[in-house]
Amino acid sequence: LWLLHSFLKPCDFPQIKNGRLYDEERYRPYFPVPIGKRFHYLCNSGFVTASRGYWDFIHCTARGWEPAVPCHRQCVIHKVENGESLSWQRSLIQDQSVKVKCYPGYCLPNGQDTVTCTENGWSPQPKCIHVNSTGNCGPPPPIDNGDITSFPLPVYAPLSSVEYQCQSLYQLQGNKKITCRNGEWSEPPKCLHACVIREEIMERHNITLRWKERQKLYSPSGDEVEFQCKYGYKKIKTSPSLRTKCVDGHISYPSCSKSHYWFSG
Ligand SMILES: *[C@@H]1O[C@H](CO)[C@@H](O)[C@H](O)[C@H]1NC(C)=O
Ligand SMILES: *[C@@H]1O[C@H](CO)[C@@H](O)[C@H](O)[C@H]1NC(C)=O
Repeated sequence: LWLLHSFLKPCDFPQIKNGRLYDEERYRPYFPVPIGKRFHYLCNSGFVTASRGYWDFIHCTARGWEPAVPCHRQCVIHKVENGESLSWQRSLIQDQSVKVKCYPGYCLPNGQDTVTCTENGWSPQPKCIHVNSTGNCGPPPPIDNGDITSFPLPVYAPLSSVEYQCQSLYQLQGNKKITCRNGEWSEPPKCLHACVIREEIMERHNITLRWKERQKLYSPSGDEVEFQCKYGYKKIKTSPSLRTKCVDGHISYPSCSKSHYWFSG
């Protein structure tokens, strides 16, 4: 009986993204509904139905609600600033792209030649920006052992920002995000070499980490590292201190040797 029921009534109340059922509060108590039922739906402003209208039907089918995506963003190009659209179409729906030609010396903020209608509107905006105009920045500066997390563009509008990340085992120092202001990028971060504390080196130097629970074998630059002598060992007077620092990937390991007092006493 349950199977029959679920077969006959396979459609729950439809969650329509960027739209809604017509008079939905009135119809809500009737759900789930059987195959074959259809309802009017509307799209929010800025969105259109599959038939590009303001309203349409949504149908309950064996595959669920159809259309599966009832409302699509509609994007309109009124005019391309400092360039022109290469299509006669002024209005596009979600996922469609249009080619844009910028006047010489101008380009789109993504450095490409198309703008795409996305669920959130144009990406990028159909506006060509002057390659050298005051305020724009060129590609972000490269840094050692790190890179920006997005595809580099030839030109960035004022107040754009990009983020850097360091290669693994490098520690980012400074601001990971830089911003284009007055044609200049803010200071990029540095990627400092982290220290890898190696078990076999500690073994050779007769030492262990002092705070095993808190310290990791991987220690960022600038961090303090504290060792202790192995049980029954004493620090060799001339060796580096038991408390030391990771300096751009380098650690001076202290050394300990067998404590004779221990065994003679
Ligand atoms: C932009 O600046 C670069 C370098 O400063 C120059 O070579 C290029 O000709 C300039 N382009 C325009 C369109 O002004
Ligand atoms: C570790 O201890 C052994 C035994 O005391 C000693 O021979 C060796 O030199 C020590 N290692 C270092 C690096 O001092």
